[in-house]
Amino acid sequence: MSETHISDIASHSGQDITIKGWLYNIRSSGKLMFPEIRDGSGIIQGVVSKKDVDERVWNDFQRLTQESSIIVRGKVREHPKRPGVFELDVADVDIIQIAEPYPITPKEHGIEFLMEHRHLWLRSQRSYAILKVRAEVVRAIHDYLDSNGFVLMETPILTPAACEGTTTLFEVDYFDEKAFLTQSGQLYNEATAAAFGRVYTFGPAFRAEKSKTRRHLTEFWMVEPEIAYMDLDGLMTLSENFLSYIVQRVIEKRAVELESLGRDITKLESVKPPFPRITYDEAAKMLDEGHKKGELENAFEYGSDFGSPDETYVSSQFDRPVMVHRYPAQVKAFYMEPDPEDATKALGVDVLAPEGNGEIIGGGQRMVSHDLLVQRIHEHNLPMDAFEWYVDLRKYGTYPHSGFGMGVERCVRWICGIEHIRETVPFPRMLHSIRP
Ligand code: 4AD
Ligand code: MG
Repeated sequence: MSETHISDIASHSGQDITIKGWLYNIRSSGKLMFPEIRDGSGIIQGVVSKKDVDERVWNDFQRLTQESSIIVRGKVREHPKRPGVFELDVADVDIIQIAEPYPITPKEHGIEFLMEHRHLWLRSQRSYAILKVRAEVVRAIHDYLDSNGFVLMETPILTPAACEGTTTLFEVDYFDEKAFLTQSGQLYNEATAAAFGRVYTFGPAFRAEKSKTRRHLTEFWMVEPEIAYMDLDGLMTLSENFLSYIVQRVIEKRAVELESLGRDITKLESVKPPFPRITYDEAAKMLDEGHKKGELENAFEYGSDFGSPDETYVSSQFDRPVMVHRYPAQVKAFYMEPDPEDATKALGVDVLAPEGNGEIIGGGQRMVSHDLLVQRIHEHNLPMDAFEWYVDLRKYGTYPHSGFGMGVERCVRWICGIEHIRETVPFPRMLHSIRP
């Protein structure tokens, strides 16, 4: 008798197998019981027939509670009326533990309760589907970049300087100094890109986001490619190819999970290059018209950054992600290259996902000039001593280069079509929420 994972049950039809897992649910009808057993790789329905099993086995199944841990033996059989569906004719069971009354029952629970029990809620089919999609997104990210000449470069988590503004820093004591949890690996990536040409970093990023929204975490995972001698147009081409690859790959490998989440896959099928490219000015005009037509509640103030309703409005005009470029320099980070045709604009791009998801990628062309970079660091009141090495990169073979960051959770939220980002990571970290 071999030990088998439910995910490859089809190749064991007719065989006696052993499954190690948990009781998901059980129904009974007279002399039959139908336990649903899950083992992490899937769920299978068992059939326990009173006349075919020992009395001890029958009694054991009657004692089992939801999420009891069990080792079950039986024969795999294709469902007589549903080809491709397999069941287990149960012969025997070993009980590892009869679980205490499980707090998460098939009835509806409030989200707060579920989040408090996240360590158990992970076992639900919904969490299962979302986190399997996430794992596929992560694999697709690595596969795309690894097979396109990018070299993985880990950048530090403990850093002396802010990359994305000083208002969202998490401070830690670093011996006799202050340090911060990284907001982005970008600055270090700009150094590794000068050494390796095309690089990416992929790790956690931390931001003390002080408002509760459906798309902000305080700890999230970000992938950041950085490319020597690439300009903004090249970066937009990379962004659309990268995102399309990820989405098509998830459709190919995780259609079952997407369907179980009720995701309309046709909306994802259109995610193919080219993506529309519009300037900030064009987007601002769109928002103006939307407001005049009454489709957008608040008027957009030209020169400011887009709010969430603005992003939703702009992105809902398109059936695939839209790339908005050339933002006013004042709303973007200190390191962005100015547009040579209009120095008030920065050569940055945000990729807004459709269906109201908003920004999932932010990036742009980096500043080449040493002197202008120094000036910007002063203008942003950033501590020069922490940036000296970064400025150095502009002294020793400064070079045009571009890169972006994509938040994995934002991407998963969009692909899965779910409301809130908290479900896209096993243990979300948000404002005032750090348990479990
Ligand atoms: O636009 P952001 O702030 O850009 C940067 O950090 C650049 N340094 C990246 C680069 O060019 N290498 O963040 C990039 C992306 C956002 O588009 C979003 O997907 C995600 O990171 N992100 C968050 N995701 C979840 N929670 C948050 N609080 C996030 N903040 C940013
Ligand atoms: Mg951004």
